[in-house]
Order: sequence, then structure tokens, then C-alpha cells
Amino acid sequence: MNADEQKQAAAVRALDFIEPGMKLGLGTGSTAEHFVQALGARVKEGFDIVGVPTSERTGQLAESLGIPLTNLDDTPHLDVTIDGADELDIDLRLIKGGGGALLREKIVATASDRMIVIADASKLVTTLGAFPLPVEVIPFGCTATAGRMAEVASAWGCTGRIARRTDEYGEPFFTDSGNFIFDCAFGRIPDPVGLAHELNRIAGVVDNGLFIGIADLAIVGTPSGTDIIEAK
Ligand code: 5RP
Repeated sequence: MNADEQKQAAAVRALDFIEPGMKLGLGTGSTAEHFVQALGARVKEGFDIVGVPTSERTGQLAESLGIPLTNLDDTPHLDVTIDGADELDIDLRLIKGGGGALLREKIVATASDRMIVIADASKLVTTLGAFPLPVEVIPFGCTATAGRMAEVASAWGCTGRIARRTDEYGEPFFTDSGNFIFDCAFGRIPDPVGLAHELNRIAGVVDNGLFIGIADLAIVGTPSGTDIIEAK
């Protein structure tokens, strides 16, 4: 299977973990979209679930497929969130936010009893950091905030270009919450726990894309099928 087929296989297997009546967090990105498509087909057959989307994009897709939707204000506690990742390691530590939805993704995942990650094999790494770490930053004073991020990251053994994300027209990329994303090309992150904690203490940082201790299980597509990794 190629990478997209692996994503789809992981997404379809995730349906095995969904039971009627569940309240689901619906992730963002191409892998999560495979899951939403598969879920939509089940809903058409009468499967009874309700979803909370982690982005406007996912919400629109789910709506178009007839998936009943709610939000965390009306439904603050969810059973399972199914979402993709930009990187994961064997301890189920993740980098997320490649699609710019890390804040809502983290809010929804941590409002859920379980988070299940779905990914193709290329996402499984021994050391996090080859994928530039996305950090969501308030626009006010963002250059100063990015400077603090560089200082803090350096103290945690991480150096590299920190760049404000732009869209396909070269304009600043805004998250669904109206913030910027700074992508931090560190190459490797020797201490994800320490870095995640210290980045979030910087005034102006809303959250970072390191998901530590949040994911419970990963379904990873492989060339020949899917593998399951469970949190230790
Ligand atoms: C979006 C995310 C996605 O889960 C991540 O970017 C993976 O995307 P894809 O499934 O398209 O590879 O964190 O903010």
C-alpha cells in the first residue's frame, strides 16, 4: 500500500473502536478525512454517533456527509477522538499542527476519554523533530514571542529556523481561532516533555504541537496492513 492507502487503512480500522451512541472528536488532515468519510458511510447506514470537529474544514466535510455534529459547550465530555499526526514515536508522543488545527485538536483530544491516532508508516519516528514543530501564537507582539521561543528552545537543546507560516498566496496563515502559527525547524527534539512545557509558559504562546501523554493508541498503516501501538 502507498502512503494514502495506509492512511485509509488506518482510518477504516479505527471504526472498530467506535460503538453506537458514542460522542466522537473528529480530527483534521488527510488521514482524519479518510476517517470522516468512512464514518459518514456508517452514519448513512443508520449508525448513531455525534461528532465534535477540530476545525472548520472537518466540520464542513462532516456536515456534507450527514454526520450529526455538536460542540464542546453543549457536549463537554467525549468518548473518543480520532485524529492524525505529523509525527509519532513509540511512546505515543506526537507532533501535530501541520494542518494548523493543533489548538482545537488538543482541546478536543483532552476532552475525550481516549485519543486514537491514525497515520501512515512514514509518521512513526524514533526521535521527534524532523517535522517542524508548529506553535500557535497570538498576533500581538509575535516577533518578540518568537524570539523568546528561540531562547527557550535553545535551552532545551533545540535550534533551527522559526518561521511564521504563510498560506499559498504568501499571506499570513491564520488559525480557526485567529492566531498565527510559527513552524520551528529543530531537526530533533531531545526532550519533548521539557520543551512542550516551557514553550507554553511564554506569554503570547497559545499552545504548541507537542501532544504528550494524550494519545492512548495508534493505528499505523504499513505496506501490508495496519499495526497497533498502545500507550505503555
Ligand atoms: C492538523 C494535524 C494533522 O493531524 C496532521 O497534520 C497530519 O495530517 P495528515 O493526516 O494530512 O498527514 O495535526 O493540524
